[in-house]
Amino acid sequence: MKPIIPRLNYQWTWSDFIQSVIALFSSTITEKVLLNLLNTDKLFYTNHARTALRIALSSLGLPKGSRVGVFIYNCHTVPGAVIKAGYEPVFIDVTDDFTIDTVDLAAKVSKLDALIVTHLFGLPTDVQSIKTRYPKLPIIEDCAHAFYTFYQGKILGSVGDMATYSTGKAKFPSVASGGYLMVNNKYYEQAVQLAYQALPKASFLSELKSVCMSLVMALLHKPWLYGFFTLPILKAKTPVDRDEQESTMLRTTKRVYLCNKISHIDYLVSKQKTNASIILSGINNHNSLTISKNVVSSQTNSFMIPCRVGNPQAYVNFAVSKGVEFGRHFSNAIMWATKFGYTLGSCPNGEKLVREVLVIPCSYNLSKDQVQKIEHVLRDYLL
Ligand SMILES: Cc1ncc(COP(=O)(O)O)c(C=O)c1O
Repeated sequence: MKPIIPRLNYQWTWSDFIQSVIALFSSTITEKVLLNLLNTDKLFYTNHARTALRIALSSLGLPKGSRVGVFIYNCHTVPGAVIKAGYEPVFIDVTDDFTIDTVDLAAKVSKLDALIVTHLFGLPTDVQSIKTRYPKLPIIEDCAHAFYTFYQGKILGSVGDMATYSTGKAKFPSVASGGYLMVNNKYYEQAVQLAYQALPKASFLSELKSVCMSLVMALLHKPWLYGFFTLPILKAKTPVDRDEQESTMLRTTKRVYLCNKISHIDYLVSKQKTNASIILSGINNHNSLTISKNVVSSQTNSFMIPCRVGNPQAYVNFAVSKGVEFGRHFSNAIMWATKFGYTLGSCPNGEKLVREVLVIPCSYNLSKDQVQKIEHVLRDYLL
């Protein structure tokens, strides 16, 4: 057993801690910077992005059992929110570049009453083209991975009828559980307002628990503890799917997100881009590994490095033996989708992605030495 650099970013600094304690006692939290970034005048803050997504879906006012398109290669919370809102998910295939398969969408669109576009790994799907082609189809942009990514000069989330974002653990920027909803189409604003008012308010006790948990999680993701305890013991257990209660966002999360992270967002993005460039520099476009285009483009947030390889598990095993964790993100996506009614074979590329995707960490919290180490491990495996 040895120290291991974790693949997910659970950073929680002393400054985050101080800000969250301030949040417990102060009443003013300014959100101007975030509102300006997103070019909106209001956001609806929730305890998770999945809550924001459920509210967005319910606010569409569709009849029970309506069909909502979701990406097959995805987090289970996305079809989960569709079910929670009383609708039925229809799975749409995803291309090798992690964007929507427009041919599969065209084949299934007549069945759809709404569509959720997930901008996977911060890589943008062209929502404007979908909107132009299907102007009557309500679109919700799932920007859980895609905060501060741009497409054709516009920030993601600004084109669909509504957009949801996650501040959650290991998202970008990583804070603590939380999400928010932006409404672009004013037609839905009143319904959103009503659904939002019906949410239970986060309690003082849950604030305290969150501050403590954030510290514990940050500690558990320090390489020495991660290698000796978190990965081999805690993460080896089969995770239990808990039905998360919905509520508004914790003030502590909101304060840390707005004050500590958003105000440094350009620095955090540029650090991730530099990290990704260093990690990829050593392998010189090696042909066993296909890197999605745009991962380090000037428009994306460079959230993680997703690539496709023949045998991702072999990379994961090699890396962990060298002290780095690579990931097989959403490797359970087909199993989850099947629980939500997916028929095997209807999204063949998504099924292939589940077998091929390897995700390499490049988050802003990595030190220079850790970035060098990740670069060496990848190079040693390939060359
Ligand atoms: C693509 C995607 N959408 C939505 C979510 C839900 O985010 P949250 O955990 O804040 O509910 C996740 C969470 O991992 C995700 O990966």
